[in-house]
Amino acid sequence: MDDPDLDRDPGLDLIPAPVSVREVPPSGRYVLDEETRVEARPGAEGVARWLRATVGAATGLPLAPGDDDDNRIVLAVDPALGRRLGPEGYRVVVDGHAVRVDGGSSAGVFWGAQTLRQLLGPAAFRRAPIGARTGWELPMVAIEDAPRFVWRGVLLDVARHFLPKDGVLRYLDLLAAHKLNVLHLHLTDDQGWRMEIHRYPELTRTGAWRARTKLGHRASPLWDERPHGGYYTQDDLREIVAYAAERHITVVPEIDLPGHSQAAIAAYPELGNTDVVDTAALTVWDTWGVSPNVLAPTDHTLAFYENVLAEVLDVFPSPFVHIGGDECPKDQWKASPAARARMAAEGLADEDELQSWFIRHFDRWLAERGRRMVGWDEILEGGLAEGATVSSWRGYAGGIAAARAGHDVVMCPEQQVYLDHRQAPGADEPVPIGYVRTLEDVYRFDPVPAELTGTEAARILGAQANLWTEVMEDQRRLDYQAFPRLAAFAETVWSPLPAPAARDHPAFERRMAAHYARLDALGVDYRPPGGPHPWQRRPGVLGRPIEGAPPIV
Ligand code: ACM
Repeated sequence: MDDPDLDRDPGLDLIPAPVSVREVPPSGRYVLDEETRVEARPGAEGVARWLRATVGAATGLPLAPGDDDDNRIVLAVDPALGRRLGPEGYRVVVDGHAVRVDGGSSAGVFWGAQTLRQLLGPAAFRRAPIGARTGWELPMVAIEDAPRFVWRGVLLDVARHFLPKDGVLRYLDLLAAHKLNVLHLHLTDDQGWRMEIHRYPELTRTGAWRARTKLGHRASPLWDERPHGGYYTQDDLREIVAYAAERHITVVPEIDLPGHSQAAIAAYPELGNTDVVDTAALTVWDTWGVSPNVLAPTDHTLAFYENVLAEVLDVFPSPFVHIGGDECPKDQWKASPAARARMAAEGLADEDELQSWFIRHFDRWLAERGRRMVGWDEILEGGLAEGATVSSWRGYAGGIAAARAGHDVVMCPEQQVYLDHRQAPGADEPVPIGYVRTLEDVYRFDPVPAELTGTEAARILGAQANLWTEVMEDQRRLDYQAFPRLAAFAETVWSPLPAPAARDHPAFERRMAAHYARLDALGVDYRPPGGPHPWQRRPGVLGRPIEGAPPIV
């Protein structure tokens, strides 16, 4: 396939850029109208439903099922195309006779239908038509396209700030519009437990609520003195999974252990290191950072989390299950006679090996159930579990080491793709943490470090943009941090872009002009290109990094 050549993109401004675009004779436009029929061949019925529900609603056209010879959209799975372009590859052809969307699988047909929606213009992203409009025009084009990576992910941290179900469903639509296909749901942390577990009701009765919340950076002196919380029932999560599946998105659940577990310990104090802390006095954490309260390495803890994960597996069909493994302070284990006895009994040399003992246990446990374990790159430290896939967040190094050791990797280096970090320098940005990462910085992100050999690079499944929510308390703030940078990220994982330094960022910015109009129609509260509106600024201490304080990551 050709490289994407946006000079040949006849003003379509597609994001992410497709692999190839050709204009098709006759020049002119194909008009969709009241009579246009949608013919869904076997395997494409779900895409037809999606098209009717979204483009049908936006245009007011019935897009009724049928195979009218002269005026139809044909949606079809084409195995030969799949062999050439892969299962997510697609071809969209608009000529004088019909619109055809062929995919290597139903996922490919779906990504082709997403491209079709972009071709119809920004108004196709609304939920109802405005004004009197009867014809919806498509340019005569032939597009062939396929993703660069199989893992094109976004992490939503629903633990630090709870995002109600409706907001998660909305994000799935936004991911789909950008051809992103993994939603990593960070369901548990020190500050909240968000998944109903039937066997352990205190996890949500107690663990889903905190009494108050630190405002801004963890060094800030300010608090929001209101309770915060919420959780998803298992039916909510099944609905999220089903909604995602209709959009060819996999939801990867994360239950973070053995660190980031204070909410669980507050609910069930016996999970903590009771010989060194009075865990019965712990509450769900109300500030940011990394809590010292970590799980005790006991048989009881292992059994408890097996029972939790059994319910997780029942709800989430994802082949991958994330068990966290990040930022586990070792102080309590060092002080705990019970933890030291465990280390001696298991022949473990140090606390890093004790952490790996935890992780290896769940790697085996998940593998026995046909699932694959993913963990943050700290899981490398005491020896990598056999089946582990690594989310490389502290930079590229963990991912490089894991790929060289023959493990699969998802690249999500905080220096590049942590979208909670502010997106411009200066005092106007509302988020007082982290690195400055502009839209252009994200556009120049590449998941594959140059030093990897071909075989090692093949271990990079893809990449993930992470939306940690310490300072993103609601959907508007989330939108502001995620967009427009998520559009740039989508292109880095879908399109075969040149090496970062050679990327044509001005051309991307020009296409973004059209994309902002799509985001407007979708109702996304992105950061405006000119900088934040005054209401988005944070006054005083909330709007500034605290002197001398390290970034929250
Ligand atoms: C992380 O940011 N602690 C994975």
